[in-house]
Amino acid sequence: MSFATASPTILARGLSKAYRSGSREVPVLRGVDFVAAPGELVAIVGPSGSGKSTLLHILGTLDAADDGEVVLAGQPVAQLRGEALAAFRNKMIGFIFQFHQLLPDFTALENVMMPGRIAGREPRELAREAAALLASVGLADRQEHFPNQLSGGECQRVALCRALVLKPPILLADEPTGNLDPASGETVFRLFLDLQTQHATTAVLVTHNPELARRCARLFVLENGVLRAENTRSETFGTQPPPSSRTASSDGPA
Ligand SMILES: Nc1ncnc2c1ncn2[C@@H]1O[C@H](COP(=O)(O)OP(=O)(O)OP(=O)(O)O)[C@@H](O)[C@H]1O
Ligand SMILES: [Mg+2]
Repeated sequence: MSFATASPTILARGLSKAYRSGSREVPVLRGVDFVAAPGELVAIVGPSGSGKSTLLHILGTLDAADDGEVVLAGQPVAQLRGEALAAFRNKMIGFIFQFHQLLPDFTALENVMMPGRIAGREPRELAREAAALLASVGLADRQEHFPNQLSGGECQRVALCRALVLKPPILLADEPTGNLDPASGETVFRLFLDLQTQHATTAVLVTHNPELARRCARLFVLENGVLRAENTRSETFGTQPPPSSRTASSDGPA
């Protein structure tokens, strides 16, 4: 199967999402627009319950919006279903979940290797790369540990390695430093930056850490179902999009 290889970019238009519980409807997203150019590192902050995870899941094709569209690397994701969608996700997106979601019956190394196994990669080379990634986040001696033998922050670092192992063009990270001490958080953030430098990865980082958020090229705040742009410090990381790729959402709500 071939996918669009042109600029891996995230484009979302008019995303709306409400959850229903009984007769009540809880609106979470109200017409969210979002664009990330290739190689950009974008942060999203917002109060707990404001819909950051919901938005990230929709951008990552793990959930569907009630309204609006998501286009990843030129591919409208609504056109993909079943196996085609799963293969697209496996190849294009590395997802770091807020609650890591490691497979409990597999070791740290096996968890990191999983996306590569699904993609049919050669196991020995894959194992070497997975081991190198674990070593890069300080877990060289935890490869054979199962998730219940790891701390929360260690599980989070394993989940980061799992998201990176196929070097996906798009990385979506839901509070990847939430359980980490400052030094490990910095390691994880640096890995993000390395990946971008090497592979022009487009990354969206949901975080409650305002300092990390301000170091991203662009910063958005999700509040009351609306995403708005905030200014970041001048010393930022990740490439800035060319002016032509900026939309109303890049510079503020339309
Ligand atoms: N499956 C669901 N059914 C009903 N309501 C849900 C569901 N998932 C999320 N919600 C509600 O939607 C809102 C947004 O949830 P979401 O997890 O996206 O928030 P968040 O910004 O990621 O919060 P946090 O910072 O605490 O992780 C919350 O009020 C939550 O209670
Ligand atoms: Mg969340």
